[in-house]
Amino acid sequence: MTAPDLSWFLRDRFGLFVHWGVYALPARHEWVKSRERIADAAYDRYLHYFEPDLYDPERWAADARDAGMRYAVVTTKHHDGFCLWDSDLTEYKATRTPAGRDLIRDFVNAFRAAGLHVGFYHSLIDWHHPDFPSDQFHPRRDDPAYRAANPARDMGRYADYLHGQVRELLTDYGRIDVMWLDFSYADRTPYEGLPGKGRDDWRGEELVRMVRDLQPGILVNNRADVPGDFLTPEQYQPRTWMEVDGKRVVWEACQTLNGSWGYDRDNLDWKSPDLLLRLLIDTVAKGGNLLLNVGPTARGEFDSRARQTLAAIGAWMRQHERAIRGATASEYVAPPDCRYTARGDRLYLHLFAWPFRHVHLGGLGGRVAYAQFLHDGSEILMREGGHDGEGNTGLRGIPATDLTLMLPVQRPDAAVPVVELFLKR
Ligand code: GLC
Repeated sequence: MTAPDLSWFLRDRFGLFVHWGVYALPARHEWVKSRERIADAAYDRYLHYFEPDLYDPERWAADARDAGMRYAVVTTKHHDGFCLWDSDLTEYKATRTPAGRDLIRDFVNAFRAAGLHVGFYHSLIDWHHPDFPSDQFHPRRDDPAYRAANPARDMGRYADYLHGQVRELLTDYGRIDVMWLDFSYADRTPYEGLPGKGRDDWRGEELVRMVRDLQPGILVNNRADVPGDFLTPEQYQPRTWMEVDGKRVVWEACQTLNGSWGYDRDNLDWKSPDLLLRLLIDTVAKGGNLLLNVGPTARGEFDSRARQTLAAIGAWMRQHERAIRGATASEYVAPPDCRYTARGDRLYLHLFAWPFRHVHLGGLGGRVAYAQFLHDGSEILMREGGHDGEGNTGLRGIPATDLTLMLPVQRPDAAVPVVELFLKR
């Protein structure tokens, strides 16, 4: 078996997550079927009206690229069981809706053509499959008749279906770079006697083995309840570089634009571009990747709020890409309200808050040859230990081990200002 190639992943650092499915029609979160305990007949109405006539994956890919993203992971099937590709194993799929096409094929072609790596998110959970037993998340969890039929449901048969579909996805679409399986919950407290599900239910080890056999070099996440190639903290930022058994590991934060993964029309929790950039920077400063999600509409578009956000991120990324791409954590400790990212002999100081005229960099006294703002390449004057190098005491009480940067009073016009420090060799 070929060892997974992590080099592109660690260099790219920033990817697009896409959650798309018929839940874009109710537009009330991708878990709407579970949250509102919707029965199949009522949910399946949405399939009749799913007509994404404005779907233009080339445009999605261009928006992602312009935002500075270099890979994308798209939902082939979410927990509701609806398939966006033309699976031979079900009729519950896009080709049987007014969409009338294999939406995944178009996605893969467009993103590949734009030079982005492509990954598949595939739900282990399935709220449509008749053999998937009701559990704490199932839309029918409180329906006594549905629960009573659980013993007749054959999880083994569902697992065969799951494996068969993953096989299709990893056979029919060329090279796939990431497999994002979601998710396992065998460890959760049973819901009224209904247990969760995990590797024994999915036959997780066998599934991941098949994924690697079909796509040597693919990266697999950690949610099949089997160790994978990277950890996936969701909607929170870890305190430090993530570790397993005291060793730093590869990790990828996943974050939303507004708290929902699927299109959620009335949701008002939109994060500002500044906040999202700080999440991206914070992630890279801790040695991780960021997978940032967009939930396209039922018409097949990124809505205007998402597009504006991506454009604002892209404006910053255009000028600051080299502080992110190929960068990682620094061994130096950043001052308050700052983050460091490091790449070769460059150290990047990201200023989350704007200080008054000076920022003191502990441990960098005597170590920096030159400093400049990254957005405009303008010089930043420096003082070693508070001295100006011409015998003037300058700033009292600053230790010689500090480097002081002389900042303008006015914060420059960059969402997050960055100072590029050229370390002495
Ligand atoms: C979760 C959710 C889900 C979302 C995902 C993204 O496990 O169930 O809706 O797809 O995480 O990380």
